[in-house]
Amino acid sequence: MAYTPPYPKPLDRSSKRSLWNLFNRGRRSWLETLYEGSYTGKISRIRLPGVQLFLVKFPDLIKEVLVDRYGVFPKHEIMDVTLKPLLGESIFTTNGPVWERQRRMLDPAFGQAKLKEVFTLMRGGSDALLERLDAAADGAIVDIEIEMTHVTADIILRTILSESLESEGARKIFHAFNLFQEKAVLMIQMSFLHLPLWLAPRTYRIWKRTGREIRELLAGSIRDRYEAYQRGEQGEHKDILQSLLETRDPEDGSAFTLPELVDQVAMLFLAGHETSASALSWSLFLISKCPEIQEKLHQETCGLLGDREPEFKDIPRHRLIRNVFRETLRIYPPVGFLTFRKAAGNQRLGKHDLPDGSPVAISPWLVHRHRELWERPDEFDPDRFEGGIEQPQCAYIPFGQGPRICIGAAFAMQEAMLILASLTRRYRFEPGPGPDPEPTSRLTIRSLDGISLRVWKRPKGERVVAAPDSPEDTQAEAAKCPFH
Ligand code: HEM
Repeated sequence: MAYTPPYPKPLDRSSKRSLWNLFNRGRRSWLETLYEGSYTGKISRIRLPGVQLFLVKFPDLIKEVLVDRYGVFPKHEIMDVTLKPLLGESIFTTNGPVWERQRRMLDPAFGQAKLKEVFTLMRGGSDALLERLDAAADGAIVDIEIEMTHVTADIILRTILSESLESEGARKIFHAFNLFQEKAVLMIQMSFLHLPLWLAPRTYRIWKRTGREIRELLAGSIRDRYEAYQRGEQGEHKDILQSLLETRDPEDGSAFTLPELVDQVAMLFLAGHETSASALSWSLFLISKCPEIQEKLHQETCGLLGDREPEFKDIPRHRLIRNVFRETLRIYPPVGFLTFRKAAGNQRLGKHDLPDGSPVAISPWLVHRHRELWERPDEFDPDRFEGGIEQPQCAYIPFGQGPRICIGAAFAMQEAMLILASLTRRYRFEPGPGPDPEPTSRLTIRSLDGISLRVWKRPKGERVVAAPDSPEDTQAEAAKCPFH
């Protein structure tokens, strides 16, 4: 029987809300401001005080914005302003030649060769998670969002800086980051409505201070490595920072300066763990609600791995896990709204004329549940991804699309599949007591009050051991995955 996971019921068209009511609902979660009509049609014009926002919802028009005409729809400065205290001039928010140079120089750090190299560092983080869960009592109730945030922050620190979250500095970064993200949501909303940020003085102060603290902590770790590299000491590191130290712009041969490195590392920390933590938490919640699917994942993993350690070459072979993860990214895309774009010059899009500077919004949440695109859009059905999906290019955009597609998509897939395989082989998850989690929008799609799951340890005898697939199968599977 198909399962429909929780999502905020769309607002009723007949009871129109005032702007103030929507602003307040949006402050809690913009998911609560959506109407049933938001999930249909091609493009909506939303009139706000002093600004018209264009919400683009259909794949052909999304493709125009993100792929075909991305040059005239650059990223809107709103994110730049609100993330600057933390990210400085990072690839996430820059545009034009500055972004092009950064992307050229960062790309090699996320290619297949590097992903293979950081696999062992990633597995270190995943093993530490298993140790933490093993230490809990059998059948213990665990807040899985906290665990997934811990493991993904740990993995990002290990893969970027060869540090683990157990270190004092890393813990400080982690806590400061949580505070920064909590405050950033209001700052983004206020900037969008052109309200001065100091109107919320306490939030403003904390947001500024935590951004600065995280940068200082990161700069401490990066500086030592940067200076050693300048002195010609190559070091033994196999992490992403090493790639960023070595990378050169193929066009002019320039390297990243120290402040540029801090910007990029801060951004990778932000973009690289919060999103994965959200997706993994929802994946585990969904399989806890679907015991049959969970059993199949367990069988698949045991069949492929038996009792041995997962290796890099195993990742593309977890077909069912990949389908579950893809479907989770459809149902609960961590990035519910892409960074706003803006029309550079007057632009025509579909039947609409967009005046110069108009903000343009694209929401994976809405496209992934669009009533005219997906069959049973609110149902969780991993099988819809079996054999690939037959959808237009921009109907499924958890990682964005076009030149600015997520640089870490393959990293995220590798990490998620490693963690989900390791967990489903060893444990069984049941929903915890109390009501289902309520999806809410922060910087990513999270649950309002955490996600409690009961975690049972599987006896060794329950682990099925089967012959692994042939190398040809492995290659065929890898070829199917668009993000691997
Ligand atoms: C499930 C996990 C992830 C999801 C769902 C995700 C999603 C996205 C999305 C939707 C974008 C495009 C934003 C836009 O067009 O406005 C993006 C960009 C980006 N992501 Fe991810 N991401 C994930 C994991 C990661 C990881 C692990 C890293 C790095 C370690 C990363 C680094 C980046 C960077 C650097 C960009 C900006 C690329 C550019 O503008 O050129 N992401 N991500």
